Amino acid sequence: MIDLKDNDTKELLRSTSEILEKTRPFSELMMRYRCAMLEVKTKLDVLNTQLSLENDRNPFESISCRLKTVPSIIEKVNRKGYELSAESIERNLNDVAGIRVICSFPDDIYILADELCSQDDIRLIERKDYIKNPKPNGYRSLHLILEIPIFLMTEKKFMRVEVQFRTIAMDFWASLEHKVKYKKNIETDVDKISAELKECAEEISRLDLKMQSIHRRIDNGGSKHRKSNN
Ligand code: GTP
Ligand code: MG
Repeated sequence: MIDLKDNDTKELLRSTSEILEKTRPFSELMMRYRCAMLEVKTKLDVLNTQLSLENDRNPFESISCRLKTVPSIIEKVNRKGYELSAESIERNLNDVAGIRVICSFPDDIYILADELCSQDDIRLIERKDYIKNPKPNGYRSLHLILEIPIFLMTEKKFMRVEVQFRTIAMDFWASLEHKVKYKKNIETDVDKISAELKECAEEISRLDLKMQSIHRRIDNGGSKHRKSNN
């Protein structure tokens, strides 16, 4: 039984409500990111449904969403030397809300990204094409930083969401490379592994284009949305 008149209990309740009051802006910010992420995911799901009806296949294989965890937000804010406040997180971080879209073929990535960016409530903040310009280690993906409005009870807020588009093969590569990057105490030669990974990235890129070309031949020019991006 809690004695609300007990001084220790009173102190505990006071400090708990103080903590809740201090963390309220963070909880509200995370809620807004969650809403923005769901808005963008819904837009991609709608595009997937519409394009699959037109082309008889899904332009993406899978889609996943994640919100950055609080420890990971704090680590990034500290690492980059930003102030730790809700306003600073919103101003400085682009990837609190993240969506990853995995496509079968490179062309689908550009079709989806172009369709998404052409919607009139979306603001494109940044576009990094690591498919046309791979990172030196071989990393390939198309990254978009978008802003999307969310409608709250009293206001309309634009929130940033990072969308990464990759093929299945690029995703396979990135997962393994991520493992190598974060795995400590690798016994074998790290430089050799990096060189082999880079070779794999190039082979994967060739494979993606070859598979796409075979698919086009099978599909016999049926798609209304086919663009030549490669
Ligand atoms: P931050 O890394 O988020 O500070 O920003 P940035 O401007 O460097 O973003 P960039 O677009 O380069 O990378 C953002 C995200 O893409 C990362 O958090 C990873 O999820 C992914 N990514 C980028 N580079 C690599 C890479 O070399 N390997 C793997 N596996 N993932 C990568
Ligand atoms: Mg980075």
